[in-house]
Amino acid sequence: MLSRPIYHFLPLYGIQIRYSSSSTRWIARKQSDRFTKQAARQNYRARSTYKLIELDLKYNILKKGDVAIDCGAAPGGWSQYIAEKIFGEIDSQKVYNKKRRTAKSKMDVQSDEEEDIDDKNDFSKQQDVQNGLVIAVDLSSIEPISGVNVVHGDITDHKTIDKIKTFLGNRKANAIFSDMAPNFSGKHLVDHMRSMDLCEAALSLAQETLGPGGTFLCKFLMGENDKELRTKLERNFRKVLYKKPEASRKESSEGYFVCLMYSSDVK
Ligand SMILES: C[S@@+](CC[C@H](N)C(=O)[O-])C[C@H]1O[C@@H](n2cnc3c(N)ncnc32)[C@H](O)[C@@H]1O
Repeated sequence: MLSRPIYHFLPLYGIQIRYSSSSTRWIARKQSDRFTKQAARQNYRARSTYKLIELDLKYNILKKGDVAIDCGAAPGGWSQYIAEKIFGEIDSQKVYNKKRRTAKSKMDVQSDEEEDIDDKNDFSKQQDVQNGLVIAVDLSSIEPISGVNVVHGDITDHKTIDKIKTFLGNRKANAIFSDMAPNFSGKHLVDHMRSMDLCEAALSLAQETLGPGGTFLCKFLMGENDKELRTKLERNFRKVLYKKPEASRKESSEGYFVCLMYSSDVK
């Protein structure tokens, strides 16, 4: 028998809003999550930025002056970090580890905020727009990010690929990222298959635009076809690793493939 949903009544401007118990749990989890708080304090648009920072720290993916393409970039957290790495000086370790600190007093909070600015403000001073290039692609619009070129479009559409290539000119990318996620249907198999399609689209972009030795990082939803995807990736990269960063929620079926050293003749 179905249990009766529990509703919570929250007063807001005298209006009572009804949340289901699962929505209330989701809101509470969002508000209390340490990466969410850290993203708000460090001015990143998405908590998922810390997934990329962790992987970048581990595999040293991004370097100043690189060319990078960020697929599924909205609202822009990953692109913000990518631009900071490519155009400026940023201490990723320091930025990432901020989460381990607990502010005990108002003064602690203030000094944390000041340090956050110190860690990141070199970006504005040391922009090296001539060498680096960041291209952010998404179906949704993205609020401007300093130094980032936005392509508004579907990665599976050849017109979007043409726009990306126009920004690249005759350059090749050093790194291609995909944090793309499909619209969730609620049916695991459907979502998994859609996620596989997005990974394939990102891989085919990589085959056209990634330079030799380049890195490809893509999110996928686990399921019966991810082995097949891995095999395809292994045909194009010398090393393919499966990773679940700390900021990726345990209950989520997402994982990341980190693909190093792109080569057209691996196998
Ligand atoms: C989890 S969000 C990405 C968050 C982003 N990494 C950040 O740090 O802000 C996934 C994004 O994938 C985008 N997306 C899904 N399918 C896409 C497609 N076919 N082409 C381009 N973007 C797509 C969605 O619009 C969504 O903004």
